[in-house]
Amino acid sequence: MSKKSVGITGIGASLPKKIVTNKDLESVVDTTDEWIRKRTGIEERRVLEVGQNLSDLGAQAGKDAISSANISVDEIDMIIVATGSPELIWPSTACLVQQKMGANSAAAFDLQAACTGFTYGIDIACQLLSSGGYKNILLIGAEAMTRYVDWSDRSTCVLFGDGAAAVVIGEVEEGLGIISSDLGADGNGSDLLEIPNSGSAITHDKLGDVIDQTIKMNGADVFKFAVRVIPATIESLLNKSGVMLEDISLIVPHQANKRITYSAAEKLGISKEVMVSNISKYGNTGAASIPLALFGLENEGRLEKGDLIITVGFGAGLTWGSNLIKWSKTS
Ligand code: ACO
Repeated sequence: MSKKSVGITGIGASLPKKIVTNKDLESVVDTTDEWIRKRTGIEERRVLEVGQNLSDLGAQAGKDAISSANISVDEIDMIIVATGSPELIWPSTACLVQQKMGANSAAAFDLQAACTGFTYGIDIACQLLSSGGYKNILLIGAEAMTRYVDWSDRSTCVLFGDGAAAVVIGEVEEGLGIISSDLGADGNGSDLLEIPNSGSAITHDKLGDVIDQTIKMNGADVFKFAVRVIPATIESLLNKSGVMLEDISLIVPHQANKRITYSAAEKLGISKEVMVSNISKYGNTGAASIPLALFGLENEGRLEKGDLIITVGFGAGLTWGSNLIKWSKTS
């Protein structure tokens, strides 16, 4: 019996209304609009306001994805939320989203692979669906990065933004959909990018203290890691799949810095135009950045059924991952 084809059948996104421009940040830290644009490509980002939470964004993105897939919420049998900035440690953000969506038939869990979470989620969903145990999996990338940002650290606070985007993954026409994935991790680089005082690392003797739960990053080393790992995982993915780089219409990378994706394009020997970028509008939205970019492409009519695309993520852990997808969804 041949393996069934599974792929993206619906897509949605949800962003906070509040826009913070680079100019706005000039009054927060010692920075300039020019520095941020030139060094990162970011112009503005969305920020969750008090009273709004990650699960609100995730649930809205999920509802939109389900409606785009033309199915009912009861047909979702699993919700996976890829996030590195969960609303709470317990319960999972996926359970909060499930409750807000009324997706009562769905199992739900969070996937923590930082900014690589969406690419991990695609492979996990694909394996679960191919085994026949599930029919429709809702994979949401959702981040409240600005809640973990040190607003006095100019080398990190200008980079991040909030947002959520979701895909429904289910059976698609034979030959279309998710073809293969390449995932990896290297815990030796765990201290390059971390939120050190979080989770069970906070011991009881520290309870009651003011705890600094903000993102700490060695920007230069993360930059080098990303430029090395993007071409490496893409090459490994293509080798596994027997597909040539020339056959790829678009590469949708995690949006962390435009200079990272352009340097990776140069290393791969491909045009910058193949590397999708929406970082100017949203900054680094972690695990949400790839589905948010896919949502933009689908809505702009830049994806045709049958196009071969690659999604590629990297982030804390260190982690990385890529997926080869023959596009199945069209608006
Ligand atoms: N405004 C003005 N000056 C700044 C700012 C700022 N916002 N931030 C840093 N600078 C200064 C530095 O202090 C430094 O000044 P100095 O020379 O007087 O010491 C100077 O700019 C150059 O600093 P660099 O760190 O060399 O700047 P660089 O061009 O490398 O850019 C950046 C820094 C943007 C952080 C870059 O290293 C980067 O993008 N790294 C990767 C980040 C990343 O991808 N993170 C997330 C990945 S995974 C995930 O998403 C969780």
